[in-house]
Amino acid sequence: MFLTGIQPTGEIHLGNYFGAIRPALRMHPPGIFCLADYHALTAHAEPDLLRERVKKLAAALVALGASKGHLLYRQSDLPEVQELSWIIACHLNDGILRRNHAVKASKEKEEPIGIGMFMYPILMSADILLFQASHVPVGKDQLQHLEIAQTAAKVLNVRSLQTLEQEVVKVPEAFISENVGTIPGLDGQKMSKSKNNTIPVFIEPSELKKLVSKIKTDSTPMDQPMNPEPCTIFQLYRQLASLGEIEQMRDNYQSPVYGYGHAKRDLCLALEREFASTRERYYQLLEDEEQVEDALKTGVKFLRPIARQTLKEVRKAVGLR
Ligand code: ADP
Ligand code: TRP
Repeated sequence: MFLTGIQPTGEIHLGNYFGAIRPALRMHPPGIFCLADYHALTAHAEPDLLRERVKKLAAALVALGASKGHLLYRQSDLPEVQELSWIIACHLNDGILRRNHAVKASKEKEEPIGIGMFMYPILMSADILLFQASHVPVGKDQLQHLEIAQTAAKVLNVRSLQTLEQEVVKVPEAFISENVGTIPGLDGQKMSKSKNNTIPVFIEPSELKKLVSKIKTDSTPMDQPMNPEPCTIFQLYRQLASLGEIEQMRDNYQSPVYGYGHAKRDLCLALEREFASTRERYYQLLEDEEQVEDALKTGVKFLRPIARQTLKEVRKAVGLR
């Protein structure tokens, strides 16, 4: 079973969709989507804004199909994850967290790092281990976090083998879609909410056109062949198009009458084709809070017993009641 998590820190974008959400939606057997609102506390958003973002993320995931067959839940509806986090924290050394990219970056800038940021990978490990997830669909940037989750699982299992003579958690594996890699944003760097270079999944068509027109390209003149591989437009288009369409665009890039403006138009059309109906559903769901809350309630109802069972075993293994 898979588990993936998304932080409610802004509108979901194409990087989230191609990197984590779509691969998860396509996985069998079905799995779990976590709305990681405890993680989002590290961003210190205004309380109402955070709640609004959770609502929007939940509606987005439901619109995309995350409650059909799969389950989704709001992380803070299951505070059991905090207890497992603490137990994991008590079994790891600080070195593994100090090597973390975010922690290293703060250290280089000589900025203090919040304890929540420092503990972030532990909380993520707890999300994964609590539900005995075997696979975790994520973008490449999360690999280091997954390694920490694997270490956490192994350490807990070593302990439980000594005390209960059995393993208590599954060792998870990252599931990274080979043909996705890192999705570039408007400026060609990794698309990320924190970089202000995203294309949100549910943007209105007129806004979409404006954003796509901002995608940075090189200055190859129209009558010269353009190189598709490093081009952000092509990188995005290939995620949406059939093999034939991708080959067609590759050929177009060599044509003297096809320029970046044409490629941007084709990208907009492909995005519209992919998202027009889910976008409509998303806006309906924003008006129908009950339906989204029902999906979250169903998630918690199924998942709480699994969380409690794992926690029961882990508590026994480490000497709690
Ligand atoms: P952001 O960087 O925008 O804050 P998140 O950290 O919430 O995104 O990421 C949620 C999921 O989406 C993670 O699995 C992450 O690896 C994936 N993801 C985010 N951005 C990209 C990207 N540009 N390319 C591929 N996957 C991505
Ligand atoms: N750390 C992930 C991110 O920033 C979000 C996340 C929280 C997550 N819990 C998770 C991802 C569990 C996978 C599994 O994108």
